[in-house]
Amino acid sequence: MPRWPVATAVALLMLAACVRSQPFTSIATGAAVSWSGIPNPTNADVIALYVQAPGTTVDTLAPLKFQWANRSPGYDQGSGSITFQVLNQRYPTFFVYFSNIQSNGVSNSYTSNKVIAVSKPIAITPNEPTQGHLSFTNITGQVVVQWTTRDVGTPVAQVGTASGTYTQTAAAVTNTYPRSEMVGPPANSFGYFDPGSLHYATLTGLAPNTQYFYRYGDSALALFSPEYSFTTPPLPAASASVKWLAWADAGQAVADGTNEYDYYDDYDELNSSPYGTDQQAYESAFDTWEIEQASDLGFVTQWDVYFEQYKPIYTLLPVMTLPGNHERDAPATGDRYYPLEKKTDSGGEAGFPYELRLKMPTPTQRSEWYSFNHGPVHFIQTSTEQPFGAGSPQWQFVVNDLQTVDRSVTPWVIVLF
Ligand SMILES: *[C@@H]1O[C@H](CO)[C@@H](O)[C@H](O)[C@H]1NC(C)=O
Repeated sequence: MPRWPVATAVALLMLAACVRSQPFTSIATGAAVSWSGIPNPTNADVIALYVQAPGTTVDTLAPLKFQWANRSPGYDQGSGSITFQVLNQRYPTFFVYFSNIQSNGVSNSYTSNKVIAVSKPIAITPNEPTQGHLSFTNITGQVVVQWTTRDVGTPVAQVGTASGTYTQTAAAVTNTYPRSEMVGPPANSFGYFDPGSLHYATLTGLAPNTQYFYRYGDSALALFSPEYSFTTPPLPAASASVKWLAWADAGQAVADGTNEYDYYDDYDELNSSPYGTDQQAYESAFDTWEIEQASDLGFVTQWDVYFEQYKPIYTLLPVMTLPGNHERDAPATGDRYYPLEKKTDSGGEAGFPYELRLKMPTPTQRSEWYSFNHGPVHFIQTSTEQPFGAGSPQWQFVVNDLQTVDRSVTPWVIVLF
């Protein structure tokens, strides 16, 4: 049940959430929320989706997403219905009807004194493995599987060359990040709720040019993902041939036409406006590895949405990432701008969620650069968000790396940033 009092008791009020069959995709459940008997509807009333995470209330946590009630015909008569895509974000979710939300801002504008009604919770399976994604290490024949559950449990990834027959079980290492590790708002305030257990398991000794079938989950609970598959690249060699696609700044937006909280947007500027008509775009692309920036900006929910949306690609192809300003920049945390500029673009994340959620073969957790071989190519991935000037640790890494690369094996050297 919600942890705050409903501000006004309205006799005629009825707000019911009922889970429908899946109108969107297999990654999610659609939920239709309907309401009636709202006494004084305004053009800026909002239906918002919340998560029942520990230690959060409507006053301390931003909505997962929201929609203006006026998108439903008849809202001005006090009733309506809107369908949301509801992901498994480890805790039950529920809808809240707010009266007259005037703006998003750097503080939470969705407060309990504006709550008109609260729905029943929508149940989920807390330890269903979600957000699966693959990457390479810097060792040939290794692939890392990462995923998220609520509790640590007994996390494993299993792999084999025949569908349904797993000959290798790799125990996962698990991380999380507490609110106290976040360095500023909204990451340490209304953007934060329990991000869950972030698992990564390394599959080793994989043969080249081979299709593998795998799943990930909890061996004690016997709760696993569906089976996915990937094909390993050829061994690094001058004669090898690989295909890949690189992209940057992909971002994410929710797929159901609702809005996510963005503290940079004023309500009357963007499609979060009660008066606007623009629809947000749902982005996707195909890849063998990538450079990207999730538009997380300090909100746990945006990471959850990002990985669920990209799962069809990320579970098929190892993806190699670098951070951008929205993942990394926070004053006095080692970003390259400070003290010249005090950039707060990560919304207080300072790279910690990025590093734990996208485990790359970096020298240390906080050194977000690395290299690896892929077919005839030696890739060097460098971070523009950390110092790279002469003498810096990143510069030293690149110098050493260039001196040790064997051009007879990988005649191509490609540097990304
Ligand atoms: C390979 O990756 C590991 C982390 O997975 C790192 O500790 C090591 O320094 C990397 N090796 C090189 C040569 O970059």
